[in-house]
Amino acid sequence: GLSTAAALSLRPAQTGAELRSAVPLPSPFQVPLPVPSVLAPVSTADGFDRYELVQREVTAEILPGVPTGLWTYGGTFPGPTIESRRGRSVTVAHRNELPVPTVVHLHGGRTPADFDGYPTDLVLPAGWSGDHHMHDPQAMTTEVTREYTFPLDQRPTLLWYHDHRMDFTAPAIWRGLAGMHLVRDDAEESLGLPTGPRELPLMITDRAFAADGSLAYPALDPTLRERPGVREPYVAGVLGDVILVNGAPWPVHEVDAARYRLRILNASNARHYDLEAVLDDGHRLDLVQIGADQGLLHVPVTHQNLPIAPAERYDVIVDFARVPMGSRVRIVNRLGSGRARDVMAFHVVRKAVDESRVPDVLCSDLPEWQRSEAVRVRDFSFRAGQMGDGHGWLIGGKPFDPARTDVTTRLGDVEIWRLVADVHHPVHLHLVGFRVLSRGGGPPLPQDAGLKDTVSLRPGESAELITRFDGYRGRYLFHCHNAEHEDMGMMANLQIT
Ligand code: C2O
Ligand code: CU
Repeated sequence: GLSTAAALSLRPAQTGAELRSAVPLPSPFQVPLPVPSVLAPVSTADGFDRYELVQREVTAEILPGVPTGLWTYGGTFPGPTIESRRGRSVTVAHRNELPVPTVVHLHGGRTPADFDGYPTDLVLPAGWSGDHHMHDPQAMTTEVTREYTFPLDQRPTLLWYHDHRMDFTAPAIWRGLAGMHLVRDDAEESLGLPTGPRELPLMITDRAFAADGSLAYPALDPTLRERPGVREPYVAGVLGDVILVNGAPWPVHEVDAARYRLRILNASNARHYDLEAVLDDGHRLDLVQIGADQGLLHVPVTHQNLPIAPAERYDVIVDFARVPMGSRVRIVNRLGSGRARDVMAFHVVRKAVDESRVPDVLCSDLPEWQRSEAVRVRDFSFRAGQMGDGHGWLIGGKPFDPARTDVTTRLGDVEIWRLVADVHHPVHLHLVGFRVLSRGGGPPLPQDAGLKDTVSLRPGESAELITRFDGYRGRYLFHCHNAEHEDMGMMANLQIT
């Protein structure tokens, strides 16, 4: 038990050791920021949008002049962005041409269990003749193409899709299996927020590169994984020394002197960021948060710096009209050291008319569940422990077992979950959004505002969440979104009946 004062003084802490790249790295702020292309539907008939994506290996130049093998959705990293309307159903047919089975999960989606990407519900590789034994034979499919249907009957926000295969999620995401999915609606569009080229989705990841240009990752290299001193960083979480935004190293983006809407996603396996926007003279630009993981806040929250854990999203307005023409605004990670401190830069190059606005009240449909509505309170510890004959990560003292039901709840029930962590764990619930009720016995932090699907528990910290389990019945998950922790046991089953 930490005192409130001690808990409030907790800083985000980075666990895991940084892998060092063995190729020459570009200097920061040279490579232009790419914006992932928006995927065109193959049909829009009968009230739903249908998409097709082929999961395949490609070789791409992430670092200028260095060819790197990637696993991709549709040939690019990040995968193409899907843009949808609230309540309009989307089907994505994924064909697997990778050498391994995959699982697709739409993170933050309110998705029926059959399409939620359970970790043993595989899309088999085309032409695969491997060992078909899996942990959960009932969940097996033999498809090489799998259609996922997403009703998207939910608040507009930035979702993301990524691999979720049991025990192999972390290396699959590291190799490139991640893309963004924006949900929009008329109410949000009527607010007058920055749009078009002044709305930028930013997927932040870290990676390291081996001497041959391939992505370095301990588990992909058995000789590395067995070496003492390398296994431990793998267990804590894998960090790279190169920061990529939308797949480009430390990119730069030329902007108008106007408001921009930054849709920020931390898709890193294990790296935490504490972002700030700094001018070369050291002056900081406000980060005006308008949305969280699950959509708009009630009112904007202004931050000087904004911590973001793996899988979290923040919807942020930055006003480049407040800085002198020609300024460079660097986005810096206060938790990073050396080159990994830089993230990207904006270069203010054009005067412009700005008709956007940021209303004082953004929305009025946020759920406000009261403590008195909760029909039960549950406790979960997120801690290291013994797993088999090695070191693992456990929820309530147990590593993930697809055959065990950890939590059973009834559709429509409101519950309070009390979580406690040993080291830094970003805890994610599938299907539902939740509100953060408290942290370390005190009030939530400014960045806890709004509806969340991932909460960043700092070392030694506890937090209380409240949510209603509605939407669909079936088997869902909750887990730590440090992807290495997730693969090493820190996941549990949630059955909604
Ligand atoms: Cu981002 Cu269980 O997933
Ligand atoms: Cu964790």
